[in-house]
Order: sequence, then C-alpha cells, then structure tokens
Amino acid sequence: MKNVLIIVSHPKKDSLTMAMAHQFKKLSEGSGNNIEFIDLYKTKHQQSFFSFENTNSTDITPEVEYFQNAISKADEIAFFFPYWWGSFPAILKNFFDCNFSKGFAFKYVNSMPKGLLTNKKVKIFTTTGAPKFFYTLTGANSRLKNMIKKQIVEFCGMKLDSCNIYGSVNTKNKNITKILNDIKNKV
Ligand SMILES: Cc1cc2nc3c(=O)[nH]c(=O)nc-3n(C[C@H](O)[C@H](O)[C@H](O)COP(=O)(O)O)c2cc1C
Repeated sequence: MKNVLIIVSHPKKDSLTMAMAHQFKKLSEGSGNNIEFIDLYKTKHQQSFFSFENTNSTDITPEVEYFQNAISKADEIAFFFPYWWGSFPAILKNFFDCNFSKGFAFKYVNSMPKGLLTNKKVKIFTTTGAPKFFYTLTGANSRLKNMIKKQIVEFCGMKLDSCNIYGSVNTKNKNITKILNDIKNKV
C-alpha cells in the first residue's frame, strides 16, 4: 500500500488529461493505494502568483501548509498536465514555485543543493498536440523529460519513475482509448 498524490493541471473537466488522471486514480485505488487527488484549477486552496521579500524565508501560508503536508505524506506523486508551449501550464509552475521551497524540498550544503524529498517516486503524464515521432525527432520530448528529471525531481531528492508523453492528441483524437488503456501499465 502506497500513499499516492495525484496533481492535475487542466482547466477543463472533460479534457483527456482529466480522464487520464481519473483512470489512474481508479486503478491505483484498486491496487489498494491511498489516494489524494488535487485539481489545481479547482482546489479551494488557490495560490496567487509566487512572490517573496526575502529568498531565505518564504511565507508558510495555510495553502502552503496544506500542499506541503500532502507532498510530505506521499510515497508517489503523479503529475497530469497538457504539454503547453514546450512545458507545463503556468499553474503547475506556480505550484512548484510556491510549495517546493528551500528548507522543505531542498537545502544548500557548502553551496551545493541537497534534495530533502527522498524516498518519493514521481510519475509524469502529459499529452502533446504534435505527433510523438516529430517531438522525438526534434528533441522536444527529451528536453521536457530532462528538465523535469534534473531541475525538479532529482534536485529535490526524488526519483523519476516514468515520464509518459502521448502524442497527436488534438488532431482527430483517434488514440484516446489507446492512451486510457495504457494507463493500467503505469500504476
Ligand atoms: C496554451 C496551449 C499551448 C500548447 N502548446 C503546445 C505545444 O507546445 N506543443 C504541442 O504539441 N501541443 C501544444 N498544445 C496542444 C495541447 O498539448 C493539446 O491540446 C493537449 O495535449 C490535448 O489534451 P487535453 O484534451 O487534455 O487538453 C497547446 C495547447 C494550448 C491550449
């Protein structure tokens, strides 16, 4: 039994991203895991854009406390988002800015960063409008994967378990059933 935190970043309730997250939740629950499901656009713990006066003391607001608690409890964190402008939606970037703060997610030892979120696995699920072959060929998919792996996941001491990038999603949506079926291999 694992504690699984699902973070979804899509404004539309009937998006494929949301359907994938619900499919994952259902399957992971079925395997006996404890699930916490957070929809960043709909949560009542909304956070405004990150700002600070002093880099060494970010404010612990009730929202930061809520999200950091959820992160601390999780053995596994699964992120679901659509691929926007070569990256993830701004609301997810803000989630990292606000909650993966110094002293909580990492610290510096002799000027070197040390991740503090050890023993956590991360799974990434995203969909692109572009075909997979094209983004594999141009390096767009590996850039996204490496950025997440090196700059976020490993920087904070976590381990990237899988990075699932599904292509050709906004063309004729022919592959939706295939994508939803594939989720069962990723739980
Ligand atoms: C603001 C915005 C930016 C996007 N940027 C990209 C992009 O850089 N590359 C790409 O292949 N598709 C891009 N798309 C298309 C989305 O990735 C695609 O619509 C999405 O994966 C479909 O999944 P959904 O049904 O969950 O929204 C973009 C869409 C939007 C709305």
